[in-house]
Amino acid sequence: MSAKRKYQIKKETSVKMKIAIPKESRTGETRVAASPDVVKKLAALGFDVIVETNAGAGASITDDDFKSAGASIAKDADDALKSADVVLKITAPSEDEVKKMKKGAIVAAHLAILSNKKDADMYAKAGITTFAMEMMPRISRAQSMDILSSQSNLAGYKAVLDAASEYGSIMPMMMTAAGTIAPAKVFVMGVGVAGLQAIATAKRLGAVVTATDVRPATREQVESLGGKFLTVDAEMEKEAETEGGYAKQMPPEYFEKQKAVVAEHIKKQDIVITTALIPGRTAPVLVTKEMVASMRSGSVIIDLAVEAGGNVEGAKLGKIVESKNGVKIVGHENVPGRLARDASQLFAKNLFNFLKPHVDEEKKIIEFNWEDETVSGICITRDGKVVHPMLIEQKTNKKDA
Ligand code: NAI
Repeated sequence: MSAKRKYQIKKETSVKMKIAIPKESRTGETRVAASPDVVKKLAALGFDVIVETNAGAGASITDDDFKSAGASIAKDADDALKSADVVLKITAPSEDEVKKMKKGAIVAAHLAILSNKKDADMYAKAGITTFAMEMMPRISRAQSMDILSSQSNLAGYKAVLDAASEYGSIMPMMMTAAGTIAPAKVFVMGVGVAGLQAIATAKRLGAVVTATDVRPATREQVESLGGKFLTVDAEMEKEAETEGGYAKQMPPEYFEKQKAVVAEHIKKQDIVITTALIPGRTAPVLVTKEMVASMRSGSVIIDLAVEAGGNVEGAKLGKIVESKNGVKIVGHENVPGRLARDASQLFAKNLFNFLKPHVDEEKKIIEFNWEDETVSGICITRDGKVVHPMLIEQKTNKKDA
C-alpha cells in the first residue's frame, strides 16, 4: 500500500470536550499554552477548561487570572490530564505525561516531531491523536495558526535587545557636545520571520543594518525595511527556495562563496544576528571561528539557531561565550520564552485558531474536517497509528534500504 493510501483517514471524529492546559515540564520552559483571553474564548464555546496550578507562573499569569477567565484549576498534572479530551501544550509531552492521558485524547503542541521521530510511535501506542503545530502549512489561511511565525517574530525582536544589552556601545548615531558616536553596524543572517523582525527592531534603535539570505525574494523585504542586502551568488540563489517558501539545502560551492563574501563583511560589523534554519535538518554553519577572530573586541553575535545546532562556531546552548579576541557569542535557549507572557498569548491564540473552525458550537464537540490540510497536514498519530506521510515515508524508505 502506498504511503498516500495508508494516510486516508476516517472523515470525521467527534469528541466531547474538556480542555487541559498542564504546566510545561521541560526545564527552563516559561511559556504556557493558554492565556486568559483564550480561556475566555474556549469557555464561551461551552467547553470545560482546566489549567494546572502555577502553569502560568513563568509567564506572569496567575491561577486567579485563569480562574477569572473561566478556567478551573487542577492541583497537579495527574488531575489536569486524566480526563482531558484535548491537551494544549507548548512543547511535546513527555512519556510520563502521555501515560497520564486517556486513550483518544487529542494533543496539539510544538512536537518537534521531525527531530524526535521515535516519539510518534510512543503517541501511537498510547492511542492519542497528536498534532504537530510546527508542521502547519504555510498558506495564507493558516497564518493565524502558525506557531513558528508567532514565536520567531518575538525571538527576532528579543535578539536585538539581547545584543544591545551585551554590547558596550549605543545603537544610534549620537551627536553631542562631547563628540559624535557612530551608529552600530548590525548584520542579520537569514531573513525569515525572525530575521525581518530583527532588521526592523535594529533599524528602530538607529543601527545601520545589512542582511543576507539564500532566498532572493528577501532582498526586497530587507530593502523595504531600510536595510541593505548582501548578495552571495545571484545565480545559485535563484534555485534556493522550496514551493513552501523555505530555504533548500544549498550546494557546497554556495557555502564556499558565502563564506568568502561574509568573511569580508563581518570584519566590520558590531553585532551579528544569525537566524538561518533548514526545516528538519541541522542549522548551517555561517559564522566560522576565523570570522569570529576577525571581529573587533566588544562585538556581539546572537545565534538564534543554537537549538538546531547553531549558525556560529563556538556558540553554546544556554551560554554566553567570550572568544579570545573579546567577541561575545550569545546562545540563549528558548528566546521566545524570554518574552513569556507575549509568547504564551500568541501561541495560545494560534492553538485556538487551529481548533475553532472544527468546533460545533451547538453540540459542544470538535469535528475535525480531515480533508482540511491544516488538520491532515499536521496530524502525526491517530487511531493507534502513525499517519503523517513524512513519517510513514521515512519508515517505508528505511525498510526498502
Ligand atoms: P526559517 O526559520 O526556516 O529560516 C530562517 C531563514 O534562514 C530563512 O529565510 C531561510 O531562507 C534562511 N536560510 C537558510 N539557510 C541559509 C543560509 N545558508 N544562508 C542564509 N540564510 C539561510 O524560515 P521562516 O522564518 O520560518 O520563514 C520562511 C519563509 O516562509 C519566509 O519567506 C516567510 O515569509 C514564509 N512564511 C509564510 C507564512 C505563511 O504564508 N503562512 C508564514 C510564515 C512564514
